[in-house]
Formats: sequence, structure tokens, C-alpha cells
Amino acid sequence: MRIPPEKIEEIKNSVSIVDFISNYVALKKSGKSYKGLCPFHSEKTPSFMVNDEKQIFHCFGCGRGGDVFKFLMEYEKISYIEAVEEVAKYAGIQIRPQSGYDKSKQDEIELLYEINRQAAKFFADKLYNSIEGEVARSYLAERKIKVNTQRAFGLGYSPDSWSALKNYLEKENIDLEKAMDLGLLDRKERGAYYDKFRDRIIYPIFSTNGRVVGFGGRILTEKENAPKYLNSSESKIYSKRKILYGLYHAKEEIRKLDKAILVEGYMDLITLYQAGVKNVVASSGTSLTDEQVQLLSRFTKNIVVLFDADTAGENAALRSIELLLKRDFEIRMLALPEGEDPDSFINKYGVEEFREELDRSVNFLEFQLKQFQKQGMLDDPAKQTEAIRQLVKTAALINDELRRNLHIQNIAKKFNLRERMLERELDKYLNETKLRERRNAINSLRKPNAESLPRKAELNSPNLTFEKQLIRLLFEGKESILDLIFDNIPLDELKAKEYREIAESVFENYKKGIVNPSTLIESLPSESQKEIVRELVLNETVISRKWDEISGVNKFERDIEREADDLVKRYKLKIIEKLLRELQEQISKNEEPSEVRTLLEEVNELRKEKKTLIMELEEND
Ligand code: UTP
Ligand code: MN
Repeated sequence: MRIPPEKIEEIKNSVSIVDFISNYVALKKSGKSYKGLCPFHSEKTPSFMVNDEKQIFHCFGCGRGGDVFKFLMEYEKISYIEAVEEVAKYAGIQIRPQSGYDKSKQDEIELLYEINRQAAKFFADKLYNSIEGEVARSYLAERKIKVNTQRAFGLGYSPDSWSALKNYLEKENIDLEKAMDLGLLDRKERGAYYDKFRDRIIYPIFSTNGRVVGFGGRILTEKENAPKYLNSSESKIYSKRKILYGLYHAKEEIRKLDKAILVEGYMDLITLYQAGVKNVVASSGTSLTDEQVQLLSRFTKNIVVLFDADTAGENAALRSIELLLKRDFEIRMLALPEGEDPDSFINKYGVEEFREELDRSVNFLEFQLKQFQKQGMLDDPAKQTEAIRQLVKTAALINDELRRNLHIQNIAKKFNLRERMLERELDKYLNETKLRERRNAINSLRKPNAESLPRKAELNSPNLTFEKQLIRLLFEGKESILDLIFDNIPLDELKAKEYREIAESVFENYKKGIVNPSTLIESLPSESQKEIVRELVLNETVISRKWDEISGVNKFERDIEREADDLVKRYKLKIIEKLLRELQEQISKNEEPSEVRTLLEEVNELRKEKKTLIMELEEND
């Protein structure tokens, strides 16, 4: 859907970005802005700022920022249009579909979602309403998945055919090339397109927001060379590292219980959900990634990691501990009896028994200890040292000092060791980590994509205070200020290319009547420019606040107008000085008295003007 820009502007202006973001991030007032812990990177001291006046947010730590839509896009991993719709819903504004609705103009991302939606519809229809779907229906019945549950998870069936989906999509006028990009179809060289999912139970994979981003397909009849599960390929809307299967269905329950259970399989999650254990997410086959951990950490910091009772499962579990600890999770571990996964366990023993197992889950220290015990490491003194070292190394991953120390105390108690000794060991690992982090930071500075950093330093050079001030004033949301600046200062006067481009972009919008700071920022041509402006603008706020506090009255508005006025005068002064120098030179070279006389007259005029300007500037001081 295309939403007219005026509508988008109206939606944006009808919400306070501070109120809005408060629903997601705890914010505290800090001068004219609000401050909190950045939801987009891990930090201990708040550098995430939200400013109502400018309707922007910005993190001085990771550089992310933008308007309220940008926030939602990043936070919920959704498209621009979705973000606009969600904010509109929040603000209670109705978005009417525009007449002349044109499919080809649709946001490309939207189109991809639409194709997935169509495909999911097709698969579901085949599951419930087709003759060939009988095999899938009886399979799911055998696995005790009720129709209600099937519908809740959008399950489907892809028929044993090379062209069923392809024909359907074609009929719906869908670009098959795009369906191929999504991993639904494939083709050899220039050959015909064909279905990739054939004779499989289809599990649509939902985004956190409930849109179909991809599919998992489980084979029904074993075939040679056909993998048990086939998953959508990575696409513009699906990255398996960033998705937790089931999170959309589980998120409310996870928030409510402030705890999540992590399982491996699609079916595990669905069976648990059906049995009433709804705070479950699945990593779906990949080992847990940091992106997934980060995603989950928005909902809870407490997790029970369920894993297979074999060595591979244990090792995967140990790896996930590391990621989870780094993001301050409170971790419990649980292995079901050998050979069982949550789905088979529930079907065999029932959900009550499963809950009892959950209660038996252990703190990850206990888990690690048990592992060492199993491997006989605790009986042999040499190996025991190694085991203790491993335990301390894990403890070093805990960010929170208090929790870390408690953990060390526990280890000390378990092994009857003096805490001091363990602390020394701990310090060693902590220093290593710090060293590594610093090295990473230096390396990232050297990377070519970090080129904005040296440039930023350059832009802050004292030679550019005039330009910086000018740029800052462009984002005050005041038309009168823009009038004054654009009427008096030609933009090619800006020496730094970055600043010049920013001003030019603002000028283009200004001509169309757009002066809203956050809109101006969002329409800047490059990300680095947006970042530069957000920082400039938020720093300015701090300066003005100080001024307010000192003066004791709110002179904020008058203040910026005077600042703009000063700026223009200082610019004029600079030009006059330049002209005067040129005139002096001409006079010294000229031998024609009458010409010299007119030149001198000009000099006098300029001197008079200069004097007035200086006087006015001093008055303003
Ligand atoms: P499992 O092989 O344990 O399957 O893989 P499962 O979930 O128990 O499935 P059922 O009960 O036999 O129907 C666990 C998870 O690993 C991913 C899937 O997400 C699966 O649910 N996986 C497995 C793949 O992505 N590809 C594969 O080939 C196998
Ligand atoms: Mn299973």
C-alpha cells in the first residue's frame, strides 16, 4: 500500500516519540532529551537518547538513530510501511488505501511478503481441502496435532508435484523470479521454474511481528537424496540467524512468565504449545546465534535450554551458554532422557511429567559440573584443575559483577577452594577479554566502512564551527530560520562537502515546505549524514539547556532565532572583509584617479556596513 507523504507526516506528528519508545525502553529525563540503555547494542551506561522536540532518537554508542518509524523498523525488524501502519494504529489514525493502487509500485519488500503469504495460503489450502492432502492430514493426526493448532501455526502441505505452487503463483500474476529469490521455486539455467517444496509438511516461519518470512518443510515419505527438512533460502526478508521459530506465538507468554524455553525443532515447539507450555522458541536446527539471543533478550533474560542427551546436543548447549551469558541471561539447562525430544516426551509421558522435568533443570554451573563428572574429570587431580579453569572461564563471561562473584563463590564452595585463588584466575580471563575487545575496536576503526569516523573528526575541526552551527540551525523546525539562512547564505559557501550536501538536501525539502527536523533528517542521502546531524542536533539541545538553566528563563526560542541572525551577520561580515581586501588591492594597482575615487567610495560604504554589523553583533552578545 502506498501511503501519501502528508499522511505519514500526520502520523509521525501525532505521537510523542518519547512516549512511544518508552513502551520498549526504560527512559529517564536528561535535560531536554530522555536517556536509556540502547536496545540495539549491549551497554552498561545509557547512551541512547530520545528527543521529542526533534522527534528523533540517537544512540551515541552504536550510532543508530532516526525517527519513530525507523525505531520500530529496527526494533521489530519490519518494513517501513509496516512501521508506519503500526504507529498509525497506536495513534488511532486511519490509513485509507489510496485510489489507483498499483501493485508494481509496491515496496519490494512488501511484495516479497505478499508472495510468501500467497504461498502459505496455497499450502494450507492443499492441507485442508485437497485429495492429495489426505496423506498430510493423517500424518498430522497421527502426530496428535489438532486442527486448531495446525491453523494457529499456519501449517500446510506441498503436494508431490513439480509445478503445483508454480502454477498457482502464475495464476495470481506473481513474478516467479521473485518467488525464486524467496527459495520457493528454482530452475536450471534458462529452464522452466519448478517447485522446491514437494511432498512436505510446511511450517511457515513467522517474523516476530507475525508475517511469513520463510518456510520449513518436513519430508513425508523418505526419499533418497531428499533432506529431512528443507528450509527457505536466505532472502531479503529471511535470515535464519535472526529468526527464532515460534517467537511470534510465544512472545506474550514469554513476557508474562518472564522466562523462555529453548527447543530445537518445529514439532517440539508446536507440541509444547498445544499442551499449554507456550513460552517456547526454537532455534530450528541451527546452533543458537548471537542475533537470536539478542532478539530474545527483548522479551526476557531467563531461559531454560533444552537439548538432546547426546554429545552433539551437549556441545551445542555449551556453546549457547557462552552467547547467553554475554547477554546477561539467567540460564538453566535441561536434558530429556536419552532418545527423547520434547515432542516425543510429551506424547509418551504427558505435560505434567514435562513440567516436572522443567523443575529439575539445573543452573548452568551444575550442568557444566555434571558434564565434567561424566567425563571423569573431577576424580583426577590434574584434570580437576582443568575443570576448575573451564568453570572460571565461563564465569568470566558474566557481565554483571555481582552475579559473577556469586558464581565464583559457588565454585569455591563446590571444590573447597579459597575464593582468592579463583579470583586471580578470573582476573586473567577478564583481562584477556578486555584486550580482545580493545583489539576489535581498533580493527573496526581501520576497516574501510568505518571511514565516517576520521571524517567525523575532521568535520568537528574548529575551522568548521560556522558550518556546524549553520547545519544545526537547519534542523530547528523553524521556517523563519530557514528563510533567513537560505536567503542570505549561498550553499556553495560550505567548504566541507558533507555539510554542503546536507544543506542542499534540506533546501530541496524546504522548497516543498518541509521543515520538520526528523523528516529532514530521514530524507538525507546517506546514513553517515543522518548520523552526523543527529549527533549535532542532540548536542545542541544540551548546550541550549545549559543556557536555559543559567538564564533561569526559557529563552530557548528567542535564543535560536538570535543565533541564526548572528550567523547570517557573521557571514556577511566575512564577505565584507573579503571584498575590502580585494578593493584595497585594486586601489593599490590602479592609477586612474577617477576610478580610484569610486573604488574608495565603495570601500567607505562597506566600512560603514561593517561597523553596523559589528555593533549589532556586540549588542546581541
Ligand atoms: P530433528 O531431526 O530432531 O527433527 O531436527 P524433529 O524436529 O524432531 O522433527 P520430527 O519430530 O522428526 O518431525 C530438529 C530441527 O532441526 C532442523 C529443523 O528445524 C528441525 O525441527 N533441521 C533438521 C533442519 O533444518 N534440517 C534438517 O535436515 C534436519
Ligand atoms: Mn521430533
